[in-house]
Amino acid sequence: MSADAMPTAPPPGARPDWTIDQGWARYTEAEHQVWITLYERQTALLPGRAADPFLKGLDALDLHRAGIPDFARINEELTRLTGWSVVAVPGLVPDEVFFDHLANRRFPAGQFIRKPEELDYLQEPDIFHDVFGHVPMLTDPTFADYMAAYGKGGQRALGFGHLHNLARLYWYTVEFGLMESREGLRIYGAGIVSSRAESVFALDDPSPNRLGFDLERVMRTPYRIDDFQQVYFVIPALQTLLDVTTQTDFAPLYRRLEGAKDIPIAAIEPADRVFTRGTQAYANAGGRTRAA
Ligand code: PHE
Ligand code: FE
Repeated sequence: MSADAMPTAPPPGARPDWTIDQGWARYTEAEHQVWITLYERQTALLPGRAADPFLKGLDALDLHRAGIPDFARINEELTRLTGWSVVAVPGLVPDEVFFDHLANRRFPAGQFIRKPEELDYLQEPDIFHDVFGHVPMLTDPTFADYMAAYGKGGQRALGFGHLHNLARLYWYTVEFGLMESREGLRIYGAGIVSSRAESVFALDDPSPNRLGFDLERVMRTPYRIDDFQQVYFVIPALQTLLDVTTQTDFAPLYRRLEGAKDIPIAAIEPADRVFTRGTQAYANAGGRTRAA
């Protein structure tokens, strides 16, 4: 992910494009073990929950082997499939840097892994979120095109001063997206598939709203960075997401959004296609701060 209000020069040791060496040989046995624990937890949970392209990508990349994957090995297969590669960065990178990488089919990933005592919740994306969560979807040609197009769209949004609207699109698709399948709703967002608790909450909990994806609607909806989402948006298929975003010129959309109010996070609008009318019980009870 990217973050604003950051220094524009890369930290010492990083290249001008903010990349660093992954330093795969330096991971400790304990760090590999954290990966294996998380990997096994999630793969036990995801069949029947994660969307097919995600599960297919996970298989194609063989991400579990002996622990934390070596980017050089992942990239052989990933580049062959969709022209994407994973590059290591020291942490969050400035927006322009992030978008330039995406537009050129490079996914910037953290190289550090969370501590064994914080398996379930962390503020900054680590290698498990970035690689297990994001990279499998990048093996899908349609999603791969979407992410690259998003990078170019990000550069454009910065120029228009509308990054906050475009960031919501990323959030509600790349990070927290749901999709329809013949067997029901499935998760594909990296923030969900990399989280044990949200993999269940996003599909099964009666609290959140689950609404049909609509581009402009999504760009008017704020999001939670600190807790489970109060609303998830459902796409019919990846192709629909790619088509609607690449075939829409966002410039007039951004202009229209200037006059439009944000939609309250838990609201359901008359035009929404409702998959689930959530109770909002979880959020109303105080969310993470109340939950055990
Ligand atoms: N079509 C968008 C624009 O005109 C760019 C974009 C494509 C944004 C795909 C997100 C995803 O700015
Ligand atoms: Fe992410």
